[in-house]
Amino acid sequence: MGTLAVDLLGKALKNPVMNASGTLGYGIEIEPLWNIETLGAYVTKGLSEKPHHGNKTPRVWEERHGMINSIGLQNVGVDDFFSHYFPFFVERKVPVIVNFFGFSEDEYISCARKVPSHHLVVALEMNLSCPNIKKGGISFGKDAPAVHNIVRAVREVTPVPIIAKLTPEVKNIVEIARAAYEGGADGLTLINTMPAAVIDTRSRNMPLKGGLSGPILKPIALRAVYDCYKEVPIPIIGAGGIMDAEDALEFLMAGARAVEVGTATFADPFAMPKIISGLGEWLDENNCAGIAAITGIAHG
Ligand code: SIN
Repeated sequence: MGTLAVDLLGKALKNPVMNASGTLGYGIEIEPLWNIETLGAYVTKGLSEKPHHGNKTPRVWEERHGMINSIGLQNVGVDDFFSHYFPFFVERKVPVIVNFFGFSEDEYISCARKVPSHHLVVALEMNLSCPNIKKGGISFGKDAPAVHNIVRAVREVTPVPIIAKLTPEVKNIVEIARAAYEGGADGLTLINTMPAAVIDTRSRNMPLKGGLSGPILKPIALRAVYDCYKEVPIPIIGAGGIMDAEDALEFLMAGARAVEVGTATFADPFAMPKIISGLGEWLDENNCAGIAAITGIAHG
């Protein structure tokens, strides 16, 4: 069988599949169904300097071809993650990508400072793209100079590689990706959710507005990966509506080094293990020695 192993920012991952931030709890919750070491890497729920309570309910809404969430970045805080949850990943030898955010530039900086430079910490994934908070996050992510400045400010305080997670809600994602790269980002996650809303015709109100994810987002995410691959010389993690191995292959061929799976897990908690075995089967059927070789092949 060909190898699913990939190199991401100098770390060897056993396969290119990881969860999208916030879609797999703190990792231990999935253990009754499958082991966390199945994944190439685990991505944390977005962590902040201090714990955060998030938004009121309803927080998730099923759509015809996707899902809308408005969690509001609820999390235990970076210190609690490293004292209570990180030892589980160390015990299992599972690489971790630490997704994090701030409500201000200072909060991004102080959160990043608290993340240790441990051999299992692959990178900091900087959320510049959450649509569910009034300030911070997306307000940085939509403006190229702001992205450049905040990435550079974080770059100065940590030796840990930085991956910028970008919003699709911009005119030119290549310009934003380039700003992140020039600010010091070592990688990109493309893309986060798209702002969306729900109307309940019975109560005649808007029960939820938040981020749209799932299959409806896939072509937009693929286009972002495809367009950034040749223009920005850092590895890309593809995310957005990946439901099966075929979808994952599309992202890899468009230029992604690895993929994040989110909404699919809500429809089928075994989606990620199935995607990993599907990629292995594809390698065999196509007589391909390694999955790393297919990154970007759709560019000819
Ligand atoms: C949330 O917690 O509201 C979702 C996080 C995100 O979309 O970045």
